[in-house]
Amino acid sequence: MTVGRTSAQEYIDQWVPMPVEKAETMVATMYTDPEVFKLEQERLFGGKTWLAIGGLHQLDGPGSYFTTSIAGQPLLIVKDQDDRVRAFFNVCPHRGGMLASDACGSMGRSIQCQYHGWSFGLDGALRTARDFEGVEDFDPDQFGLRALQADTWEQFIFVSFSPDAPPLLEFLGDMPERLERYKIGEKVHAFTQEYEERANWKLVWENAAELYHLPFIHPQLPVAKGTHDEVRGGNYSIGVSGPPESVDGANGTLPYLDVNLFPNFNIVGDDRSFVVAYIVPHAVDRTGWRLDGYAPQNLANDERFKEGYMASTDGVNVQDIPLNESVHRNLQSFGFDQGRLSVRWESQIHHFQNLLMGHLRDGS
Ligand code: FES
Ligand SMILES: [Fe+2]
Repeated sequence: MTVGRTSAQEYIDQWVPMPVEKAETMVATMYTDPEVFKLEQERLFGGKTWLAIGGLHQLDGPGSYFTTSIAGQPLLIVKDQDDRVRAFFNVCPHRGGMLASDACGSMGRSIQCQYHGWSFGLDGALRTARDFEGVEDFDPDQFGLRALQADTWEQFIFVSFSPDAPPLLEFLGDMPERLERYKIGEKVHAFTQEYEERANWKLVWENAAELYHLPFIHPQLPVAKGTHDEVRGGNYSIGVSGPPESVDGANGTLPYLDVNLFPNFNIVGDDRSFVVAYIVPHAVDRTGWRLDGYAPQNLANDERFKEGYMASTDGVNVQDIPLNESVHRNLQSFGFDQGRLSVRWESQIHHFQNLLMGHLRDGS
């Protein structure tokens, strides 16, 4: 009983970009087929993109680190001796041991594998291979930690698995300029909320990117009543909503923003406070959703402000997560193949799907 269902491979092979007025959504199997997730691992997450991976507040001085994973890849993010952020696979080149198992901490001056104690500099170079005398044709230079590209924009850390990815600033295009008056870099980390969803990461992204569902799913949000306008650039789209009122009920002076940076980063808020979301693909049907709230220092220290903000964002998440999960289940139904998009409210989704398909088709 597969009548009317298009296979993901067939869809990828036949896909041609269409304007949003004519476009259909990606077929359901693009969200549910494990082979698509493998292709995404290789061509998208492993390709020439930059993935948002965390905040600078998670690191301290040289030797501080945190561990994370994205698209099935375990990562170790470290501040080196020169205070630069470095990213490595959290995998030892000796026999695949884990370099660090805690969520965060300090390494001191070297990274030591937990399995047999090989140690590496904070730049990843092998320093000591314990009791390795007599091993022939062993070149220590070939046994440094496998590194990824790492860079920062404002207080956020990005990594790229591809050595051929463009510099981060080039990848961001004119997005930083467009956000300049929001003074993002002046806000400090106030709180973190973490969730797991039994849904494909693209459903999580698309739900976060469109405001079409707001009056139905989040009627409590003031922005749900606002007007809406948007811009779309290379790898980002920005939705702008009025009236300029924060989810916590207090006024910023600039319009409310919904920034979507392909493929896994989202900023929602105004010039007073905002939350960033990291969409963390784990498997074809499992996605992490992590929110970091930012505010001016005085508000970030204010427990009442934080509690109110967190209750508000949690209220939205507990409405969205079951929704994403039910759509994921429905996309396995033989009763749905592909849909259509509102030109006014869902053009960010069209933009996202075109970027995604470009990567999957061309591997770029
Ligand atoms: S696996 Fe790391 S030292 Fe052996
Ligand atoms: Fe939502």
